[in-house]
Amino acid sequence: MQVISTTTETPGITRFLTQDPNILSMLQMVGKIAPSDTTVLIQGESGTGKELVAKRIHELSKRASKNLVSINCGAIQETLLLSELFGHEKGAFTGAISQKKGLVEIANGGTLFLDEIGEMGLEAQAKMLRFLQEGEIYRVGGKAPIKVNVRIVSATNRDLETQVRNGKFREDLFYRLNTVTLRIAPLRKRPGDVALLIEHFLKDDKLGISIVKSISPEAMDILKKYHWPGNVRELQNTVERFKILGESEVITKNDIPFNMTNSGQESEADNFDDPATLLLAQVEKRHILRVLNHFKGNKTKAADALGITVKTLYNKLSGYDKPEMSNLTNRPSELTH
Ligand SMILES: Nc1ncnc2c1ncn2[C@@H]1O[C@H](COP(=O)(O)OP(=O)(O)OP(=O)(O)O)[C@@H](O)[C@H]1O
Ligand SMILES: [Mg+2]
Repeated sequence: MQVISTTTETPGITRFLTQDPNILSMLQMVGKIAPSDTTVLIQGESGTGKELVAKRIHELSKRASKNLVSINCGAIQETLLLSELFGHEKGAFTGAISQKKGLVEIANGGTLFLDEIGEMGLEAQAKMLRFLQEGEIYRVGGKAPIKVNVRIVSATNRDLETQVRNGKFREDLFYRLNTVTLRIAPLRKRPGDVALLIEHFLKDDKLGISIVKSISPEAMDILKKYHWPGNVRELQNTVERFKILGESEVITKNDIPFNMTNSGQESEADNFDDPATLLLAQVEKRHILRVLNHFKGNKTKAADALGITVKTLYNKLSGYDKPEMSNLTNRPSELTH
């Protein structure tokens, strides 16, 4: 298996683990374009490793000894973003009590990483375009242009082309930012990486206190089929949870939260068909199975607690498939209140 891991490549450079052929060629592309000053747009769902790729680009570039400055364009309101990016002169606005350098200036000679670029407002977009064209900025309230040499890497989890079509993002800026576009596929499209990353994060036991050392093939299979909406970040957190809560050396299918199992996902998928009715049925089913388990399978007590007759309980249970029930009955943490 070919694995890109920068510990075996160049020491000190951010590791991006993968065995996925498309991502491996994307990483080769990173190696090729990193030394140039070309702008790069990284597209990928949340948690797929966009920031990691941005770091690699910077570290593999000739700007590596200078600053890599990151800003999340979606996290702050536009006027603040303008002053964060371009700085301001004393007295430029109420509260501007002294002159302040912006992040573009701080990144001079290095790389500026514009995260969530799709969230940037139109005024900041106009200023950014002007900077990319002229190579100079004006601080807010400033009259004199300041020359700055910065390489721009941006990232988005939105489809910027659609935003361009909807008039939310300037087309001219879009073409300036995406001289090269790198796409990182979601984790659910690369089950091989799920296994690779789980093994990696399991071994990575900085505190050295976890007794959890491995994962059973059956549990691994379940996790490979899970849809990972939060991608690698979610996977990393999941493994951390296993390490903290695990009571034996091997993670088994019983350690996997219900929503990550096949049945959990099927129920979620069902919601797309008919959100109202299926969601309700799903909640009812989970509750019934929990209560039943709480009373250790005693249907009379369970029906009593649920406020339904034993016959109704039997009717409901006959509608649930067997593997799902045994799956639930095996998982005490899911079933107790
Ligand atoms: N291929 C990978 N190998 C090792 N670690 C990874 C990999 N991909 C992601 N990670 C880790 O997963 C976490 C999320 O990655 P990162 O912050 O780069 O994602 P992102 O795409 O920028 O997410 P967001 O859109 O939410 O900002 C980080 O802790 C990162 O180190
Ligand atoms: Mg990010």
